[in-house]
Amino acid sequence: MALTKKEEITEAALAAAVASVMEGCRAMAAFSDDPGRTTRLYLTPAVKAAHGYLRERMERLGMAVTIDAVGNLHGFYTAEKANAPRLLIASHIDTVPDSGGFDGVLGVILGIALIELLSGKRLPFAIEVIAFPEEEGVRFRLPFLGSRALVGTLEQDLLQRKDANGISVAEAVRNFGLDPTQVPSVKTGSGVLGYFEMHIEQGPVLESLHAPVGVVEAIVGQTRLEVNFRGCANHAGTTPMHLRQDALAGAAEWITVVENAAKRKESLVATVGRIEALPGVGNVVPGEVVCSLDIRHAEDAVRQQAVQQLIDAGEALATRRGLVFTTKTLLDQPAEPMDSALTAVLAQAVESAGYAPHKMPSGAGHDAMIVAPFMPAAMLFLRSPGGISHHPDESVLTEDVLAALRVGMNFLELLAAG
Ligand code: HGY
Ligand code: MN
Ligand code: MN
Repeated sequence: MALTKKEEITEAALAAAVASVMEGCRAMAAFSDDPGRTTRLYLTPAVKAAHGYLRERMERLGMAVTIDAVGNLHGFYTAEKANAPRLLIASHIDTVPDSGGFDGVLGVILGIALIELLSGKRLPFAIEVIAFPEEEGVRFRLPFLGSRALVGTLEQDLLQRKDANGISVAEAVRNFGLDPTQVPSVKTGSGVLGYFEMHIEQGPVLESLHAPVGVVEAIVGQTRLEVNFRGCANHAGTTPMHLRQDALAGAAEWITVVENAAKRKESLVATVGRIEALPGVGNVVPGEVVCSLDIRHAEDAVRQQAVQQLIDAGEALATRRGLVFTTKTLLDQPAEPMDSALTAVLAQAVESAGYAPHKMPSGAGHDAMIVAPFMPAAMLFLRSPGGISHHPDESVLTEDVLAALRVGMNFLELLAAG
């Protein structure tokens, strides 16, 4: 397979790179806040260990490594000439609790592997591999924190958001050894050629097509709400059913409304993934419930209409039950198309690697959707065996890692050519 200056990359080098990628993802999975499971939340000690591992792998390749004020780790591979434009190759290294070892991490390790395959060759552009430390939004319920800081859309007041232990983002940044007052300086400078993210599909489509890779055309929009049902705690034994203001029974009824609304609307997905009943003991009628709502659709109008319908349904149901229903919007992220020109180059790279450039939307959110309004962005999906993700059984096939490396090297060659 040709590379710049028409040099070949041997099959042996590709096979070694595949092994190196699988080893890298395996090693990263061990850096966890939960012994025996893979859980890596924003700026925990597990991230510090993961940074140490990535730094070593990057510095071994002659990359200059820096960590910015929100904990984005940057590995810089210089171009043929100084002051050349930069291609960002990025993804995230935080995980959901008890996750698999590939969501996010794979894109960072693949980026490093492409540098490895360049084996010192310089291109007309520099390459900056970035590991974002907070895409999932688990610790602070604040997704895309790293990429938002990179493009300058992280509002300062979000630094006061507190985690379950009452620690603010700013404190977590300080505890990690970084300076929260420097967050505005995280914003990336000009001269960015584009943004390229490689990521597992996290769904069943590529597997159903027997395709190793796919080209992302757009990322669906998503709304994340925090929902509150307030009733009245009372004695479980002495409070007759018709005199109760049971917040959990109300939430349960509403959750079935959520599910039925999504089932009725083509390709709308709605999820209540987190729920907490207070005071949370068996012999007290729950007086309060806090739960999440995650709604996604490719069309923003459909998503926003669904959100409003479910808020209206919650309010009506709460009134009937003598409850108070309130919501707080944590994220209202529009659907984001990928850059058509850069995506066309990526599709060409897929074809010249011998694969069908299957174009598809992403149901999962990605940092690419945050940066896309500010720079040309393109995404490559790798097949998810069993369509499983956000689960310890999440996996990737070595043949698809090989495919992604072939595509990635072609992509670099096509960009270098012009
Ligand atoms: O939730 C998502 O869409 C992604 O996995 N962060
Ligand atoms: Mn994820
Ligand atoms: Mn992800």
